[in-house]
Amino acid sequence: MLESLRNKENQIGVVGLGYVGLPIALEFAKKFKVVGFDINTDRVDLMKNGIDPSNELEKEEFEEKDITFTDDPKVLEQCSFIVVAVPTPIDKHYQPNLSPLLKASQTVGSILKKGDIVVYESTVYPGCTEEDCLPILESLSGLNAGVDFKIGYSPERINPGDKEHTLTKITKVTSGMDQDSSDIIASVYREIIEAGIYQASSIKVAEAAKVIENTQRDLNIALMNELSMIFDKLDINTYEVLEAAGTKWNFLKFKPGLVGGHCIGVDPYYLTYKAQEEGMVPKVILSGRNTNDGMGAYVAKRTIQKLVGNRVDISKSRILVLGTTFKENVSDIRNSKVVDVINELKDFSIGVEVLDPHADSDEVNGEYGYELVREPSGEYDAIILAVIHNEFLNSGLENYLKFLSKNGFLVDLKGAFKEKQSELNYWSL
Ligand SMILES: NC(=O)c1ccc[n+]([C@@H]2O[C@H](COP(=O)([O-])OP(=O)(O)OC[C@H]3O[C@@H](n4cnc5c(N)ncnc54)[C@H](O)[C@@H]3O)[C@@H](O)[C@H]2O)c1
Repeated sequence: MLESLRNKENQIGVVGLGYVGLPIALEFAKKFKVVGFDINTDRVDLMKNGIDPSNELEKEEFEEKDITFTDDPKVLEQCSFIVVAVPTPIDKHYQPNLSPLLKASQTVGSILKKGDIVVYESTVYPGCTEEDCLPILESLSGLNAGVDFKIGYSPERINPGDKEHTLTKITKVTSGMDQDSSDIIASVYREIIEAGIYQASSIKVAEAAKVIENTQRDLNIALMNELSMIFDKLDINTYEVLEAAGTKWNFLKFKPGLVGGHCIGVDPYYLTYKAQEEGMVPKVILSGRNTNDGMGAYVAKRTIQKLVGNRVDISKSRILVLGTTFKENVSDIRNSKVVDVINELKDFSIGVEVLDPHADSDEVNGEYGYELVREPSGEYDAIILAVIHNEFLNSGLENYLKFLSKNGFLVDLKGAFKEKQSELNYWSL
């Protein structure tokens, strides 16, 4: 397989060209002939013109790459090594929504040939690739897995907005349904991943490894959030406590905050779903999720209590929220928990204005029903620094603080300005 990909007799197909699929497709296209397939025609048109619809990659990264972008699944027939990187969201009942993954499996199954290898990269629960996707590949292709074609799983670990830990610089976990497929899959990825490959012993192990990476992170943040609620009652600053505790060599440096986005707040539910299917209630993981999902309402409650303490007429009060994306310095607004803070404040008839230099106002309006303001205006009773975009850091914040009313206060969710506590009316997690 590797030799035929190297000499371009065979091609690599990437199905789903989002945050994960596009970088992997472009990286493969430095060495191999690649077909990039996506069902979203608008996104495909942008990529044909060297534009990353997710705003992560520069135009130069599309240059001199042997890649064909298409929304026509028939073009995938030319490929023998197919990577699937479609979304794996949850539904409103916090259950895995496998619909994009199963549809992508149908697409791949309908073009599959003898000798092909399919590698799933989407984050799933242990067992999903073999129990949910594989039967679709077999039934649509009429081929037998393990005999006519093989499958594998290789989770993605990139972190949106992180320019240091990029695709090729992160150790890549790979796996296959047997030793032969595991070795071939590892050899193909080895061609592009500088940091090296870790061959997991099975597909299930690789699936579980990915989902616990984010579950561990989620739980650690939940602990920090619970600590911050305790310290708030004790009137001590959480970030000062964490700084002091962090001087011990084995203290883990997590911080409190809103847990949004499409990975950390979502992936644990894939694991809890599977655990519950097996008759086990994963109390610790679900408790952490519950704490983190409640943080938006908690921040709003503490803000309102401070407004009341300032004798502000809530129905006439105005708050400026800085940042609405799910994390700093990205434009991605999916599953942003800042929205929970905003909605809770609006439920109390508070006038909320939201400013974010990275987010697209139309997209925010379409998704959450509010527009962004470009500039602050008038006086605000509070400013909530929700996302620490670079624009808001250092002297950047001064541009906004001057719009605070006399008793107005700063809610600093990430503790970025804790040294200003004595100068400002200040509250942080
Ligand atoms: N974004 C991250 O940083 C990240 C990191 C690690 C793992 N992951 C995981 O990787 C997977 C992909 O996430 P993403 O962030 O790249 O998603 P994304 O939403 O950015 O992109 C998914 C792409 O898949 C396309 N798509 C949807 N259904 C399709 C189908 N049936 N056939 C072909 N294309 C289809 C969409 O049009 C979109 O372009 C998810 O399982 C996610 O949990 C994401």
